Amino acid sequence: MGQDVLDYFLASLGALFRNRRIYPPGAKQVLHSAMQASQKLGEWGRSVRITFLGNDTIVADRRIETIPLSFRALFESLQQLGFESVQIDGEASDNDLMAWIEKVVSKDRAPYQGSKITAGSLKLERRVEPQSVLIRAVTGYLGFLTETQEVLSDLESRKSEGLVRAREVVCAIVARLSLGRELFEPIREMKNFDDYTFTHALNVCVLSSALARGLRLSDEMVNAIAMAALCHDLGKKEVPKEILNHKGSLEPHEWHLMERHPSIGARLLLDIPGVESSYPLLPVVAHQHHMGADHSGYPKVQDHLPQHRQHFASLLVAVADVYDALRTVRPYRPALTVAKAATILIRDALSGKLYKEYVSSFLLLLNVMAAGRRVVLSDGSCGMIVETQTGKPLCPMVGDEYGRIRDLSEPSSPTIWELNEDSTDDLHEMSL
Ligand SMILES: [Fe+2]
Ligand SMILES: [Fe+2]
Repeated sequence: MGQDVLDYFLASLGALFRNRRIYPPGAKQVLHSAMQASQKLGEWGRSVRITFLGNDTIVADRRIETIPLSFRALFESLQQLGFESVQIDGEASDNDLMAWIEKVVSKDRAPYQGSKITAGSLKLERRVEPQSVLIRAVTGYLGFLTETQEVLSDLESRKSEGLVRAREVVCAIVARLSLGRELFEPIREMKNFDDYTFTHALNVCVLSSALARGLRLSDEMVNAIAMAALCHDLGKKEVPKEILNHKGSLEPHEWHLMERHPSIGARLLLDIPGVESSYPLLPVVAHQHHMGADHSGYPKVQDHLPQHRQHFASLLVAVADVYDALRTVRPYRPALTVAKAATILIRDALSGKLYKEYVSSFLLLLNVMAAGRRVVLSDGSCGMIVETQTGKPLCPMVGDEYGRIRDLSEPSSPTIWELNEDSTDDLHEMSL
């Protein structure tokens, strides 16, 4: 059914809101517009989701640049009341619509849960009264986690609705990132979630978005990277759980299965209608995120493609991917501390496995290379960072154990080999 039917429905809904503000419930103008709205909704034939995220208004899968006058007053009221999401079932009747509009007209801010219409935050059932920053953060994180779970299962079944929802989740994550660091609290606090797949997808999405924002990429590119990060490990659905959670090293045939997840993920994503035309970055990042900046990873590039270059988004997501994997409890090892995880990132950057510039920016976000941090250098000496250098976060000025100040950006200087634990790590990490 055409887009104009949806526009007509929204205009009728706007008229219902306007009329109800002027006339009492039951007035013929109110009844008429409610009837017209439900009729158009029936013609549309499926549910309508309206999402407000920062400055974005998304209806179905369409971002509305300028909200038409015919329903602008209704949308503005919903936003002022603090609603982030409205879901109207395709079978909602005129009575359903009137009952909900009644609440909007009376400026009721409580989440609305009718049989055919729900309105509230992005995840109603997770809504609790905010009591502390952490509870608010965890609530937000859990909401995103539930959404992530549903998005990934839609995508795994090759349903294109998953793309629409993924875009909504990603827009919400990026909008929250622009407001502050709240979303990162759970990434620090909650390391023991049962289902690693979903927490990992969400964490890599949040961390990649923060890194992309830190690199001052365009909003459009930040969103595209966030989407790709959310879907980067979709191919793991084909890898048996025993292999994913295996303790110790894998047998060659098990490793072979594991190494196939990037190709499987890319193929799966390409099978989803709309991915190739609207989200081409998704299969690219799924395919390349383990290749390594120096091509030392997998899948291997064919010899006859010497000029093969990875997309920069794949190199960027790879940094967030490695960091989150290290910071998460796995069945075969505990979570690494911030300092240990950062140390591994630095070594991978110096060896060429991870892209150095992105690791540098990531460490800046983590704020782990700040003055006062004790370090071990590659020549075996110990020291303390005394000053960081703009544009060269991997090469700070270090005071060594003999009282010398060493500029690690000098060509003959040693490199940082290890970051020592710091009691303020937790605080540092949260400066994202
Ligand atoms: Fe992966
Ligand atoms: Fe991953």
